[in-house]
Amino acid sequence: MRILFTGGSGKAGRHVCRYLRDQGHHVVNVDLTPLNEPGIDDLLADISDSGSMFNVMTSYANFDELEPGQGVPKFDAVVHFAAVPRILIKPDHETFRINTTGTYNVIEAAVKLGIPKVIFASSETTYAVCFADGTINPDALPVEEGCDVNPMDSYGLSKVVNEATGRSFQRRSGIDIYGLRIGNVIEPHEYDQFRGFCADPIVRRRNLFCYIDARDLGQIVDRCLITDGLGFQIFNAGNDTNSVDIPNSEILRRFFPGMQLSREMGDHEALYSNRKIRTMLGFKEQHNWRDYVSL
Ligand SMILES: NC(=O)c1ccc[n+]([C@@H]2O[C@H](COP(=O)([O-])OP(=O)(O)OC[C@H]3O[C@@H](n4cnc5c(N)ncnc54)[C@H](O)[C@@H]3O)[C@@H](O)[C@H]2O)c1
Repeated sequence: MRILFTGGSGKAGRHVCRYLRDQGHHVVNVDLTPLNEPGIDDLLADISDSGSMFNVMTSYANFDELEPGQGVPKFDAVVHFAAVPRILIKPDHETFRINTTGTYNVIEAAVKLGIPKVIFASSETTYAVCFADGTINPDALPVEEGCDVNPMDSYGLSKVVNEATGRSFQRRSGIDIYGLRIGNVIEPHEYDQFRGFCADPIVRRRNLFCYIDARDLGQIVDRCLITDGLGFQIFNAGNDTNSVDIPNSEILRRFFPGMQLSREMGDHEALYSNRKIRTMLGFKEQHNWRDYVSL
């Protein structure tokens, strides 16, 4: 597939772009800075400018695409990751503006240009716990896609708004638009951190004890690309188990006193449930932290 990918130069995007390239996709990265990765084209553009988004989606990606003489090839899908990725980087109103306007611009251009699929990065922070003022509980445990989303911070709110934007454009167009509520992204060189997570599990409470290996996130995006006809969907994007080594019974007792599991779960099964991507997309985890860390 010929894929336009926004934010491919970032922490998560660069691994996902590489994964998609290695599956044989032609990836065109649209970002403020280039990725400079063999086999991936870069186009520098700002998602907060609507005209730029229409333009990059109707552009050649490289000199080779001039050769057939048949005009600009069409994109088969847009994967949208570009964003301000958390609070406390920019002023709150700028985080909200860039993320919501940027996502509107990307999805609007894709839909109006007839691109049949959009996958966009939402976030675990929609479930409110991550950037809450103080310690709050999620709606239910495990955290599944039907849980309430009502965050109190500008970043989480921007992602909730983006999900509404995606849903609205899907209703208008009938195309497939899938939002990924991505968990805390772990790159291959970051696995040492798990020793600290296990020594002091409370540091993972705001992440609902979840993580997603950046390469497994690539697989999830690829599964979204090749699974058609689901309309508008929201998927949690996390790995199969928690990011700490204590069982769920102990996590609940120590960190969510008074809460009970809403269904039976394995001892280490992720409280940030990835059941929907396993059953609907056929996701199969390749990179569990226990394969990289000896405690
Ligand atoms: N990293 C995580 O743990 C995590 C967790 C949940 C969700 N997410 C989401 O995943 C996506 C990627 O996150 P990341 O951690 O790779 O962030 P990142 O900051 O490393 O990468 C984001 C990329 O977007 C680009 N970008 C920012 N503003 C832009 C603009 N106006 N126009 C064009 N490009 C712009 C940046 O240059 C950067 O390359 C984001 O949507 C983020 O909200 C990340």
